[in-house]
Amino acid sequence: MKRKVISMLLATTMVMSLLAGCGSSSTETTETDTAEGTAAEETVEAAEETENAGELPILGAGIYSSSDNFNSYIGKAIVNASNGVFQTNIDDGQNDQSTQNNQIDTMLAKGASCIAVSVVDVTAASNIIDKCKEAGNVPIIFFNKEITDQTLLAGYDNCYQVTSTGGDYGAAIQGQMIVDYWKSHPEMDKNGDGKLQLIDIMGDPGHTASQPRADYVKSTIEDGGVALDLLEEDTGMWDTAKAKEKMDAWVSKYGNEIECIVAGNDAMALGALQSVEAAGFNAEGPDGEQYIPIIGIDALPEMLDKIESGEVMGSVLQDAKTQGQTIVKMAQNLTDGKDVLDGVAFELEDGAKAIRVPYAAITKDNLDVAKSTYAE
Ligand code: BGC
Ligand code: CA
Repeated sequence: MKRKVISMLLATTMVMSLLAGCGSSSTETTETDTAEGTAAEETVEAAEETENAGELPILGAGIYSSSDNFNSYIGKAIVNASNGVFQTNIDDGQNDQSTQNNQIDTMLAKGASCIAVSVVDVTAASNIIDKCKEAGNVPIIFFNKEITDQTLLAGYDNCYQVTSTGGDYGAAIQGQMIVDYWKSHPEMDKNGDGKLQLIDIMGDPGHTASQPRADYVKSTIEDGGVALDLLEEDTGMWDTAKAKEKMDAWVSKYGNEIECIVAGNDAMALGALQSVEAAGFNAEGPDGEQYIPIIGIDALPEMLDKIESGEVMGSVLQDAKTQGQTIVKMAQNLTDGKDVLDGVAFELEDGAKAIRVPYAAITKDNLDVAKSTYAE
């Protein structure tokens, strides 16, 4: 295979870093040790040792930022599913596209048989695809951050993406959960005006899911027959600390007038929880003296405890484990030249070269569903 030849040629200069990067055992081979053979023989030896040391193909995998909890869980799921199938480790793009580009260059130079990344910047997808093509048509699977320009994926046979279902990005489920709670808990309408006084904490505006989540949660609430009074809506950048900072200002401005807090992800919902708890709300759950229903998306393990204790009303599971397993299975198929969907439990979305893993509503009543998703 062309890629293998490239990696063998690179082996003399790269063998040490390659082996270190792949977590394989190191070898004694160096370029300067020519006592027992020519440099050329040593090159072949080094390449052979590389092949033997790393019998498994390399999956070049990366997430856009390790400070994003949800992405870190997908990374873990990829590593777990790669066991015995690929050598891999998860590069941290540090929320910087040029850092991630360098990481992808290195993965390709190491002879990765497939690349799987959540991009820092969705507009960089085309450049990343070009890198893969130039390296010998190496397959690439984008995940989490959706590439909405379908022509990019259509333009390269070896390109796919794995995300969660639908253009609403899970927010219709979230909105419906709020409607159901409103209908079953009349006390949610604290001021009795028949409207829901809502705060919406949005994700990073540069991210494909942020605006649709904000739009669909509100439209689903209204379509469900609940009139909305949107007190505040602003970005928390998917981030706990940033969401807390925004919420600190809002809770001191509105206090008990707030009837619900909806967040675009759990990291921000947890930031909102810290803020309201510091102001005397939620620590005792819905039966406590002061309570504001909070709802997020992802159903992260750290959120499940808060749902169990009643401090948070619910979340929407994004199935990181199934996404990671699906990515690895597709990568394996592409590496082995099989049909990309061989042994994959999902179909490609019509015209989208995308696998969509379903979201699910999570409350205190079905925490087990989310727990099993994150179990090793
Ligand atoms: C997740 C967020 C995450 C974001 C980052 C979203 O799908 O729900 O938790 O921060 O992706 O890419
Ligand atoms: Ca009200």
